[in-house]
Amino acid sequence: MSFPSDFLWGAATASYQIEGEARGEGRGECIWTRFSHTPGKVANGDTGDVADDHYHRYPQDVALMKDVGLQAYRYSLSWPRVIPLGTGETNPLGLDFYDRLTDEIMKAGIQPWVTLYHWDLPQVLEDKGGWSNPDIVGWFSEYTELVTKRLGDRVKHWITLNEPWCSASLGYLYGVHAPGVQDPKRAFLAAHYLLLSHGEAMKIIRKNIPDAQAGITLNLTPQLPATAHPDDIRVAWRSDGFSNRWYLDPVFKGQYPPDIVEEVMSMGGLEGVDLTQVQEAAQPMDFLGINYYMRWIHKHVPGKPEESEFAFPSESTFTDMGWEVNGKAMADMIVRVQQEYNPKAIYVTENGAAYPEPETVTEPVLEDPERVAFLKEYLGAAEDSIQRGAKLKGYFLWSFLDNFEWAYGYTKRFGITHVDYTTQKRTPKRSALYYKDIIANNAL
Ligand code: FCB
Repeated sequence: MSFPSDFLWGAATASYQIEGEARGEGRGECIWTRFSHTPGKVANGDTGDVADDHYHRYPQDVALMKDVGLQAYRYSLSWPRVIPLGTGETNPLGLDFYDRLTDEIMKAGIQPWVTLYHWDLPQVLEDKGGWSNPDIVGWFSEYTELVTKRLGDRVKHWITLNEPWCSASLGYLYGVHAPGVQDPKRAFLAAHYLLLSHGEAMKIIRKNIPDAQAGITLNLTPQLPATAHPDDIRVAWRSDGFSNRWYLDPVFKGQYPPDIVEEVMSMGGLEGVDLTQVQEAAQPMDFLGINYYMRWIHKHVPGKPEESEFAFPSESTFTDMGWEVNGKAMADMIVRVQQEYNPKAIYVTENGAAYPEPETVTEPVLEDPERVAFLKEYLGAAEDSIQRGAKLKGYFLWSFLDNFEWAYGYTKRFGITHVDYTTQKRTPKRSALYYKDIIANNAL
């Protein structure tokens, strides 16, 4: 199986998950620092204070990326590292860090792909309402102005937001992610102002970097009915509306999905908000980023029209996250998005798997056969989606390094590079060597 000759091979990380130095070097507090230091919020009380110490070890990490042959590297900027209080005064140490990091990446012959927001909101802005405060559109624009002007001479690939569904729903509805709020009204406001912030950021990127390629990254999750029973189909489609169409429709069509808007309004969500504002989210994009991890299969619960139970086939296998391994569902999702929304290009901006692994490794290469099999299946699916007409132009593996997996702390390892959190020693896993071969051959 081989890929188009211009197919882009990359890997991804995010600032809070790897950088460390979360309290020094002039960095302001972010919602994840506050959340992870709140007892009971993160497994084992883990925090991102040190993480992979990438802030200090980035030259070594970039050298490892070069060894694997990465063509592109997707990383995110920490807003409170460059503007510690969210707006106003900037932190020269933070800006210098992203200069050095970007230069190091380019010196290694790797294309830098920057995500503006991968979840580390300045805490002071959360104290003013965070994503549910309409002012955040202006705050985010100020930050976007700063970093696009600073890095735009070198960085030509920009992603505005990482997975706004997670920011809004995990952060403000379920409260399992920072800032840990459980308030449906605030969650829908957060989603709304995330979408508007994306639209404004797209305009700023265009203005400051005319030759940039820019888009958004959404986590898309197939929500499939367990059977052809109309109630299974209905609950699955409803879930699709809340998780997928709530973001896809605004960024491509400038409107919310009508079936879901009705339900949200009837719950008192988005009260007093001018919904036509969401037209501004539909700025022309050069690509859509898809983060793909799993599908859900819904079986309706008799008598409870909005509830469903998950019904996976008995032969399904699952990763350490409890997420089902099923490459075909990713191919189907990519093809569906191409057909229904027709993006100019699609990149898988994250895909990968966690499996249980030891904290300390003594051998030169850690064997991770399950991750190798996972990659084989999903890259085969990526290739299949291209055969089926999707304009899939590249793939970023999650993740280059083991890292701080949000509410799971350091208990879930997604890396193709093992990190010993006591010594900070890096060890390649077999999957890194497997990926290296795929990149070198542009084929499975
Ligand atoms: C995604 C996040 C990423 C990582 C993976 C496993 O939702 O974007 O930071 O945690 O899940």
